Amino acid sequence: MGSSFLSIEKLSQRYPDGKGGEFTVFEDASFGIEKGEFVCILGHSGCGKSTIMNILAGLAEPSSGVVKMDGFAVSGPSLDRGVVFQNYSLLPWLSALKNVTFGVAARFPDWDKAKVIEHSTAFLAKVGLKGDTIHRKPSQLSGGMRQRVSIARAFANEPKLLLLDEPFGALDALTRGTIQDELIKVWSDTDQTVFMITHDIDEAILLADRILLMTNGPMARVAESVEITIPRPRNRAEIVEHPNYYAIRNHLVQFLSRGSTEVVASSEGANSPTTVRIDVESDAQAEAEPPAPRLLAVEG
Ligand SMILES: Nc1ncnc2c1ncn2[C@@H]1O[C@H](COP(=O)(O)OP(=O)(O)O)[C@@H](O)[C@H]1O
Ligand SMILES: [Mg+2]
Repeated sequence: MGSSFLSIEKLSQRYPDGKGGEFTVFEDASFGIEKGEFVCILGHSGCGKSTIMNILAGLAEPSSGVVKMDGFAVSGPSLDRGVVFQNYSLLPWLSALKNVTFGVAARFPDWDKAKVIEHSTAFLAKVGLKGDTIHRKPSQLSGGMRQRVSIARAFANEPKLLLLDEPFGALDALTRGTIQDELIKVWSDTDQTVFMITHDIDEAILLADRILLMTNGPMARVAESVEITIPRPRNRAEIVEHPNYYAIRNHLVQFLSRGSTEVVASSEGANSPTTVRIDVESDAQAEAEPPAPRLLAVEG
């Protein structure tokens, strides 16, 4: 784990409980993320997902523990880590394009203006924003468009790590679906490492290489790492046909409805997630292959 691109080591967060004591949001959480991975984290409201994300972004300090990226401890915000929140934090006085060029110019200070604009325009186009639209101010854009600008802005900066905190939480289902597709497209074009919070199970299965499951707080744990054994490219219409889809989905639903207590009891103090690999097809294959050939070989 220490050798992962992103390594979260024994992270704990405690807050004052308002009664003179303190409560522990999570304790000794440890996990890693590899370069180029798309990892989603799922868990009930209040378990500490945003807290973890803010620590990864360098916007908050953990009570204890360390986050390392490329072997170096993360401290404070940096252009190496891009963040997208649920409520598009665009600068209201700048156009969509300028909201993107602003960051790009800071990230690539030796680029001339034309190159900055070309690069930014290309990223806006990847999320479906073209022509006149990119010259509008955030107040003149729909919620979906504003979130597209936020995503374009984050990807255009080409950070080493992209952190997305429920980026589609405020959008209607149709818009969310479209932007999910665009997000996959930008991600697969750019090979970036993404860590995304969501509470939408189907969204997580569609997007992620791996889903981290958190138990309920307080004393939440990152209990499981569930591999999404569904090949890419994926799309929303076809993914449900894959034999692993409902097996994985059921596992996630059961984990989340079970709450947390039994999982905590079985953890024995080691706070790294258990890897869960659900692959209906190869499991069925393994069962279908009888040990007969081996017996024959022994007889021969
Ligand atoms: N700055 C803070 N001070 C005190 N308590 C906080 C603070 N930030 C978050 N919390 C508490 O920590 C817990 C986890 O919050 P959060 O990380 O936002 O959860 P999630 O994103 O999973 O819904 C919640 O109980 C929340 O009330
Ligand atoms: Mg949150």
